[in-house]
Amino acid sequence: MDLDWKNLGFNIIKTDYNVRTVFRNGTWSELEVSSDEYLPIHMGATCLHYGQESFEGLKAYTGADGKIRLFRHRENARRMIRSARGILMAEVPEELFMEAVEKVVLLNKKYVPPYGLGASLYIRPLLIGTGAEVGVRPASEYTFLVFVMPVGPYFKTGFKPVDMMICRDHDRAAPQGTGHLKVGGNYAASMSSISEAHQKGYATAMYLDAREKKYIDECGPANFFGIKDNTYVTPKSQSILPSITNKSLQVLAESMGMNVEIRPVPVEELAEFDEVGACGTAAVITPIGKVVDVEKDITYTYGDTAKAGPITTKLYETLVGIQNRDIEDSFAWTKILD
Ligand code: PLP
Ligand code: COI
Repeated sequence: MDLDWKNLGFNIIKTDYNVRTVFRNGTWSELEVSSDEYLPIHMGATCLHYGQESFEGLKAYTGADGKIRLFRHRENARRMIRSARGILMAEVPEELFMEAVEKVVLLNKKYVPPYGLGASLYIRPLLIGTGAEVGVRPASEYTFLVFVMPVGPYFKTGFKPVDMMICRDHDRAAPQGTGHLKVGGNYAASMSSISEAHQKGYATAMYLDAREKKYIDECGPANFFGIKDNTYVTPKSQSILPSITNKSLQVLAESMGMNVEIRPVPVEELAEFDEVGACGTAAVITPIGKVVDVEKDITYTYGDTAKAGPITTKLYETLVGIQNRDIEDSFAWTKILD
């Protein structure tokens, strides 16, 4: 492959194949392999008008042993089922989801970046209402497809601290809304605040709980964690996406002898953490150097703002080590594809 693996960003790159299936009359069709990047859909499709849309994000990695691995893809299948239930879409069965993911990676094997270059194959499953309705009601037809592209770090710095801006004038999700689901509407709601954060020189916006603006929710497309007193602290909130990366880090932190606390995290606690970071599939672990509360004129700064802290580094190396098979996968989180 003639790709500059070391300098990949997080952008659409055309690969050879995607896989698709359609839900009609109560059943999913056989998985179809396509090399078309376009979708013919009815202009009245519910995904276009009423946001019947859910996506997932996961990655395939080339290990030190040259084998391609997926990380916890059943978890993504389960989360997409929860998203489908939440906005009344047809559910993609776990086994079909996993078959589609495995198939599309193998079909695009040559795009899986080699080991050791800090890149991976990003996998984007998408479920949309393709049946036409003009009234606000669920479609009777759905399309599920999976496409892939090689990517580098989501935040340009990679594993280097970034600055984040607390957002007080926008909410990405309502307290009893869809924030815990991976549905497009949440991302539409976050566009303007993330764009404002970018314009002001921040990596992304940090959201607070929508009801009281007292507690930390999450960081753009990633969950938040803080470290203090040998404890990994991460927000408990109804309006954040339950992150598979975060869930994995909690297990790793425990296995390193740390305590794990999942609870509301008051904004002022930012002053007490020794290290803070954002985590997610795309973000991996992105250390945070500074959090700026513009409206309150407070800046929280962490250790050496040019370098991740020791615990964040250890968590990062362990997580990435398992994904790349530098470290034994004692939790059975990965699946080898041959
Ligand atoms: N929060 C949001 C809003 C996200 O979009 C993502 C990405 O999927 C995450 C958190 C991280 O979740 P995961 O670790 O499962 O990728
Ligand atoms: C991911 O981490 O996979 C995501 O889905 C984030 C995405 C919105 C870029």
